[in-house]
Order: sequence, then C-alpha cells, then structure tokens
Amino acid sequence: MIRMESVTKRYPDGTKAVDRLSLEIPDGSITVLVGPSGCGKTTTLRMINRMVELSEGRILLDGADIRDQPVNALRRSMGYVIQNAGLFQHRTILDNIATVPRMLGWDRSRARKRATDLMERVGLDASLASRYPYQLSGGQQQRVGVARALAADPPVLLMDEPFSAVDPIVRKGLQTELLRIQAELGKTIVFVTHDIDEAIRIGDMIAVMRTGGELVQFAPPDELLSAPADAFIEDFLGNDRGIRRLSFFTSAGLELTTAPIVAIDATAKQVAERTTPDIPYLLVTDTDGKPLGWAEPKALTAGGGSVDRGALLSHGRPFEFGKESLRDALDCAVLSPTGWAVAVDAAGRVVGVTSQESIADAIRSAHAERGAQTAANDAKTAGPAGSGAAASAPGTGRTARAAR
Ligand SMILES: Nc1ncnc2c1ncn2[C@@H]1O[C@H](COP(=O)(O)OP(=O)(O)OP(=O)(O)O)[C@@H](O)[C@H]1O
Ligand SMILES: [Mg+2]
Repeated sequence: MIRMESVTKRYPDGTKAVDRLSLEIPDGSITVLVGPSGCGKTTTLRMINRMVELSEGRILLDGADIRDQPVNALRRSMGYVIQNAGLFQHRTILDNIATVPRMLGWDRSRARKRATDLMERVGLDASLASRYPYQLSGGQQQRVGVARALAADPPVLLMDEPFSAVDPIVRKGLQTELLRIQAELGKTIVFVTHDIDEAIRIGDMIAVMRTGGELVQFAPPDELLSAPADAFIEDFLGNDRGIRRLSFFTSAGLELTTAPIVAIDATAKQVAERTTPDIPYLLVTDTDGKPLGWAEPKALTAGGGSVDRGALLSHGRPFEFGKESLRDALDCAVLSPTGWAVAVDAAGRVVGVTSQESIADAIRSAHAERGAQTAANDAKTAGPAGSGAAASAPGTGRTARAAR
C-alpha cells in the first residue's frame, strides 16, 4: 500500500504545488487523481517515484519510507506511463517494450519474448514489433507505453494522463483495455487525469484535488456522484450525476416479463393468447429468439400468418441482462418507441422485456439498498477522527465494475 502522510511540495520558486496531502492508496486497485490544470496531480504522482522530492511529510510504500530505499530500486518497482507514450523514437516497438528488462540484465531472447507476450496483452498486433514509434497511430503508441511500463512486472503503475492525446473513441478503447489488463494483473495503479468521466469510468477510488494542491474528496466513484463533498466537486462532476450513478447499479435485479413476446412464426392463436389489454405492443423475435421489433397485435394477425418485418417498430438497442447497468436499461427504455426495454443474454437472445415503471422501481430499491450499505460501512469505519489520519478507502467492492 502507498500511504501519503501530510505531504507538501514547495518548488524552489516558492510555488506550493501540493499542500498537506494525506491519502491511502489501496493495493490492487485503480486510484485516480483528478482535478483542474495546475492542481498538483503530476507533482503528486512524481513524488511517489521520487522524480520530484517532497518538501514535508512522508510517503510510505508497504510501510517503509520511500526515502529510505535506493531510488533506482524504487523506480523499478513502479512502471510509469505518460501522455504521448514518451517512446524512444530510434528504437523499434519490441525494443521499446524490452527496455527495462534489458536494463535489468535479462538476456536478449528472454526480454524479446516478454515484449512479444506484452504486445499481445495490450492488444497490439505482432506485425508491429519491428516498426518504429512514428509508424504507429497515437492509440497504438499509448498501448506500447503501457506494455513498456508493465515489462518488468512492477507491482505499481503510475500513469499521468496517458490517454489524453487520443480521440474519444480510441480513448474509450484504451480505458476498456486497461480495465481488462487490470482485472488480470491486479496492479496498484495511480492514474492522473483532468477528465472526471475518465476518472469515474476507471477508478476504484477517486481523489479530487483543487488548485493549491489540496485534496477535497477521496471516495469511490459511486459515492462521489451521490454525495459530493462540496459545491466545487458538484460543479466539477457536472449536471447529470444522478443518471451517471446508475451505471454502478446492475440490471440483474430488474423485473422482466416474457408475456408480450412472440416469435415471428407465431400463429394468430398464439398472438391472441399473448395479447392483454395492458400490453399494447408485442415484441417479435426471430426463430432463434433474437429481437426483431415491436408490433401491435392486430398488425401481426392482419397478414394472415406472414409478418411484414419492415413494418415492425425498432426495439432500439437491447441491454444485456445482469451484465449491463440500470443506466443502460433506462437508456434502452427511453429510446424505445414503446417505452419498454428489451433484455437479452450474452448471445443476444431475448430473456424478457421491462417497462420504464419497473426500471424506476429498480432504481428506487437500488438507491435504498446502497444507502443502507453506505450507512453500515460508515458505522464500521467510523473511528476517532484524528487530524493527521490519511483519507482511506472505506471498504472494498462497493463499485460494480461490470456495469461500466
Ligand atoms: N518545476 C516546477 N517549478 C515550479 N513550479 C512548478 C514546477 N512544476 C510544476 N509547478 C507548479 O506546480 C503546480 C502544480 O503543477 P502540476 O504539474 O503538478 O499540476 P497538474 O495538476 O499536473 O496540472 P496539469 O493538469 O496541467 O498537468 C502548478 O502551479 C505548476 O505551475
Ligand atoms: Mg500534469
């Protein structure tokens, strides 16, 4: 665990970049430092691997003061990734990734083997191995940066705005990839960004800093969205935080019904059986159970057995039941012409449909349950409020990673 105790950084010109920052960074999870430009994020990150020496306070790594260990050993235990990847332009991709293992004295073939494995791990095609950085896209270069940082398998990964220079779609892909790699490797990651949406998407814990290098709130994303500490955080989070918080609630608890579902080859009798006064539309599936669209019952029987697929109303984007979040389910319902969302399994087959009202019920109970959970956790972690105590992660497993 990395523990920062009342850490202050004053640069030689007098700038106070970080002000009495206390933080407990839990092992095996992603902690995001977020805040406006100049609030001291990079300085904080660099103090952890001593690229910047702190002025006051101390930083402990697994209980030992980082100043008590040789700086080279410390840095080797911490991979470092920066914006634009910072690759060596005159070295091939493979040699870039193999840099640290080679420095550590690994023989050439072992280092190359490791680099090849890592290329696959970060989603880079092996054919890129002999290229030079300028021959790669920005997103590919960032992946190389991540692979290079992972090469010597350090327990800690420090990442400073690693995905800021790429466009939003590539960026989302890189975030997904990082979450996937993290699920496999379980590193202790400290990730700097000024983008609160990125922080919410990838962070297990989020530390929000403000100009002057002060920590304002340290909380899991779900809690940040539901209980921002002050107006600054509220403003920083933006408007639709209630909706965004729904992405932390699983759709597994939603009540589904299969009543209004018919297959495309259903007989008029079967259609009639499915039709009730409170269900004005039926969802039509193909013979494999995949959704085709909504139709009024009478439209289904009018053709005497043959349904005009082109006349079906769009079912919108279905959501994967139990895997996607209540936010996804709500989005499906809002975009659906019938107001009903379609739930599918991993293979895309319909498992049921759900109304906006049912989703609203599920949201209410999810809020109530989460509120009770938070209260229980708070009661458990509440202790004497020592002034020097580091802000720490209150309990684990509170965020529904799968829902993101
Ligand atoms: N070497 C330095 N000498 C003097 N002041 C510095 C130095 N490096 C950073 N600063 C100042 O310290 C403060 C924090 O800088 P830092 O780079 O940590 O911010 P940041 O949060 O990473 O910002 P950004 O989002 O723009 O990257 C800023 O006011 C900056 O001007
Ligand atoms: Mg910075």
